[in-house]
Amino acid sequence: MSTPSLLILAGDGIGPEVMAQVTRIIDWFGEKRDLKFDVSEDLVGGAAYDAHGVPLHDDTMAKAQEVDAVLLGAVGGPAYDDLDFSLKPERGLLRLRKEMDLFSNLRPAQCFDALADFSSLKRDIVAGLDIVIVRELTSGSYFGEPRGIFEENGQRVGINTQRYTEAEIDRVARSAFELARRRGNKVCSMEKANVMESGILWRDVVEAVHKADYADVELSHMYADNGAMQLVRAPKQFDVIVTDNLFGDILSDCAAMLTGSLGMLPSASLGAPMENGRPKAMYEPVHGSAPDITGQGIANPSACILSFAMALRYSFDQGAEADRLEKAVETVLGNGVRTADLMQAEGGTPTSTEGMGDAIIDALNASL
Ligand code: IPM
Ligand code: MG
Repeated sequence: MSTPSLLILAGDGIGPEVMAQVTRIIDWFGEKRDLKFDVSEDLVGGAAYDAHGVPLHDDTMAKAQEVDAVLLGAVGGPAYDDLDFSLKPERGLLRLRKEMDLFSNLRPAQCFDALADFSSLKRDIVAGLDIVIVRELTSGSYFGEPRGIFEENGQRVGINTQRYTEAEIDRVARSAFELARRRGNKVCSMEKANVMESGILWRDVVEAVHKADYADVELSHMYADNGAMQLVRAPKQFDVIVTDNLFGDILSDCAAMLTGSLGMLPSASLGAPMENGRPKAMYEPVHGSAPDITGQGIANPSACILSFAMALRYSFDQGAEADRLEKAVETVLGNGVRTADLMQAEGGTPTSTEGMGDAIIDALNASL
């Protein structure tokens, strides 16, 4: 097989800072594990707007369609707050998701033991937590038509449309069941079938897919508001949660905070298999561009590094190497190495973004 290709879109804010550490990790795998990647870089978000006047250039979009995986840092920042809606940095990200048709967004929320006391919940509620939210990412109220701000009877009306086809629900349900089979074999589907027709259809299609092809997986359903409550009451009851775009956005932030730090959480956005069998894919940290700490060299690169681990696992079939990288991050945390975001509870001197990269590379070397 030819050398796998990666497109790095570091983006805005702390994106380039954390991505610099990922580049070191990619190089390490090339040198020490003979895993070579053909890496190219380009702009997205505010950085693309500054250079081209649009948050994603057509050429960049075309490149993203061709590579085996995209690694994205973060987009957005206060400098772009007043731009027209269509030019905002976030539109670049949403265009990538939509045009690559990345319908299945995997957001793991895993509580590292060394960080269990950082959660706003009690240690015994979160210690050992290991769940994944599968968020539908290309449809629902983020994209449904009609949408806009219209004039009606002398006042403005804001409209977004929650819309799901059977096929859209079917494919994301399948990806959740497949994932569950490789984990705890349990799926909980969340919607609002009590008040929304799209929720009734969602439940119906998930049931049908389950019955037809995944009866071996344990399936339950929950209204999304109850799901939010259960996530903070007893999160370990879950294994895989599958839900729509908007509920998934909200529930995944909630799940993220259970683990104590947004600076630790990766994500994978996957589409249909390409000709070479690999899924279309983009990997990005769950955290944003963090303008408040940009340029200080103190951001935690772990989420972005762990996103590369997900790329190793889901795009490149390198599960053992993904384990190696995840364990290296865990070892570093276990040794008490902390970036500033992980310092609230303990005090002491935080390590820099680069220091965290150094420590992870040391742990990788020690793993050989
Ligand atoms: C996320 C973010 C995005 C979303 C924004 C940046 C467009 O909140 O990935 O969860 O709403 O999907
Ligand atoms: Mg979000």
